[in-house]
Amino acid sequence: MLEQLSVLPPDPILGLAAACRADPNPDKIDLTVGVYMDEDGICPVFEAVKKAQAALVAEEVTKAYLPAAGDEAYLTGMKSLVFGDDLAGDGSRITAVQTPGGCGALRIASEVLAAASPDATVWVSNPTWPVHIPLMGSVGLKFATYSYYDPASHGVAFSGMVDDLKGAKAGDVVLLHGCCHNPSGADLTLEQWSVIADMAIAQGFTVLVDLAYQGMGQGLAEDVAGLRLLASRLGELIVAASCSKNLGLYRERTGVALFYGKDTQIAAATQSHGLGAARRVYSMPPAHGALVAGRVLSTPELRASWEAELSQICRRMILLRTQLSDKLSAKTDRDFSFIAKENGMFSFLGLSVEQAQGLRKDRGLYMLDSSRVNVAALNDRNMDIVVDAVASVL
Ligand SMILES: Cc1ncc(COP(=O)(O)O)c(C=O)c1O
Repeated sequence: MLEQLSVLPPDPILGLAAACRADPNPDKIDLTVGVYMDEDGICPVFEAVKKAQAALVAEEVTKAYLPAAGDEAYLTGMKSLVFGDDLAGDGSRITAVQTPGGCGALRIASEVLAAASPDATVWVSNPTWPVHIPLMGSVGLKFATYSYYDPASHGVAFSGMVDDLKGAKAGDVVLLHGCCHNPSGADLTLEQWSVIADMAIAQGFTVLVDLAYQGMGQGLAEDVAGLRLLASRLGELIVAASCSKNLGLYRERTGVALFYGKDTQIAAATQSHGLGAARRVYSMPPAHGALVAGRVLSTPELRASWEAELSQICRRMILLRTQLSDKLSAKTDRDFSFIAKENGMFSFLGLSVEQAQGLRKDRGLYMLDSSRVNVAALNDRNMDIVVDAVASVL
């Protein structure tokens, strides 16, 4: 039977990272995958995470399953990290399901949305993270796109976005990136979030926020200001949050689907569908990452250490953006100041597919065909090499 299968094309992002690893060029530079790298080119483990995990290993007495919804300290910590203590209140309107990474959260959220509105169309930004449609489509949801990034102005095409979203109806879902839009780095202003809130109220669509980079754009609270505005105005919101980047727990697969319901009963019903979906798909969440994150979030000195380290990472990424933007603008006849205005790990450099592929072939500089680069993979050693290479094709 299995001979019926042929080999699928490689994943557009992971396939390029694998091609870079296999490239014998000693000067190759990988700006493809969304992983934060420090000055030494290493994706670091947070000090607070090291301490929490050492304590957990020392204390561990069992490997029995966690409760199906996940670790209580983790769930409580994530509810208040994302929604803030004002909105989280006594917590009864927010329910949560711990998931394997942000991808698991997106899958559980999709299952809940499909149960609530089987004919829903999910509106995704053009462009969006390439995993969104296959991942959410696997539960049978349909998709439409809304304008988002304007390559000419290198910013959000907001009037196009609003025009397109006029087509979103009650029972539809609009997927927004909470911050650090992947792949463009171009985020909505708070005024624009407010316009989307007005539209959701008038048209009755539901909003799902993909929150994979809280704390990596402008700061932990700043990055969720739009999401909190929506939650307080709409009284209902679903968030798929990931601790891969902001707690550096990538391989531990630590995420959470959060359901902010209009009342306690709705929040509980929503969670029950999330738990049912988890049982069908993978049964129980992995424990280690969530236990570590829960410990960090709930222990004052670990929390302070984590917040300080995350804020340093955030400031360094802002600095890398400024350096890249200044150096590219100085070396070419193009204005790259947009890079300094964008947030998080990603920006488009505005190169053609041929230019991006040429850089890969001739210089060992790996970026996606769309010229999306991971700014967080730059450092003092590779910055000028990258700038010279990009300038050479312009
Ligand atoms: C936009 C977006 N959403 C969700 C995720 C989920 O990440 P993970 O499943 O690794 O937590 C990512 C990771 O790259 C992402 O970029």
